[in-house]
Amino acid sequence: MALKRDNNSSNEIGLDSVRCILSSTDLNGKIKYTNRYFSEVSGYSQNELLGSPHNIIRHPDMPKVIFKLMWDRLKNNENVLMLVKNRAKNGSHYWVTTFFEIKHHAVTKESSGYLAILHAAPRNAIREIEPLYKRLRNIESRYGVHASQDYLIKYLMKEGKTYDEYVHEITKEKNVVIDFFKTMKELTS
Ligand SMILES: Cc1cc2nc3c(=O)[nH]c(=O)nc-3n(C[C@H](O)[C@H](O)[C@H](O)COP(=O)(O)O)c2cc1C
Repeated sequence: MALKRDNNSSNEIGLDSVRCILSSTDLNGKIKYTNRYFSEVSGYSQNELLGSPHNIIRHPDMPKVIFKLMWDRLKNNENVLMLVKNRAKNGSHYWVTTFFEIKHHAVTKESSGYLAILHAAPRNAIREIEPLYKRLRNIESRYGVHASQDYLIKYLMKEGKTYDEYVHEITKEKNVVIDFFKTMKELTS
C-alpha cells in the first residue's frame, strides 16, 4: 500500500490510523522482529532491520533525555508510553505513540527483551509535544542531558504529572493502546 505524504509537512509520512507498527528487541535494543508495516513505513527491508540496533530509525530531533527516561524505566522493570518522531530511510519522518513493554521469560520470569507497539500519533499531541522536545534538544546541545533532564522534571512537576500521564493526557489513547497491547501479547506469547 502506498504511503501518503502529510499535507502539513512535505517531509512527513502519513500513517494509516488503523495499522500498527510492531517490533521486538533483545535486552540491548537489537531488533529481533518487525512486522511488515514497519518495513513499509521506514523504507528498510526486513533484512536490514533484523539484527540492527533500534536507533536505525532515530530522528535527530528526538531529545536524548526521552530515550534515557525510556531505558531507565525499562531497566527498572516498568513499561512506558512515549511520543516518538522516527526517521525513515529516505529522510522522511513519522510521529508515533509508542508503548514499550518488557518481555519475560516464560519459565524463569526474567526480562528477556522488549516489545514496542507504535501507531499514528494524534495531530494535536504532536503540536503539543514538538515545542517541548525542541526546547529539550536546545538545552541538551548547550548544557548536556543532565540539564534537559532537570528541565523535563520541572516541566512535568508544573503539569503535576509523570511523563506517561502527560502522554496519556495529550494522546487520550491510553485504553486503546493498552487493550491493543494486551491482545498482541496474547497472540505473540
Ligand atoms: C523495543 C524497542 C523499540 C524502540 N523503538 C524505537 C523507535 O521507534 N525509535 C527510536 O528512535 N528508538 C527506539 N528505541 C530506542 C533505541 O534503542 C535507542 O535507545 C534510541 O534510538 C536512542 O539512540 P541512541 O542511544 O543512539 O541515541 C527502541 C528501543 C526498544 C527497546
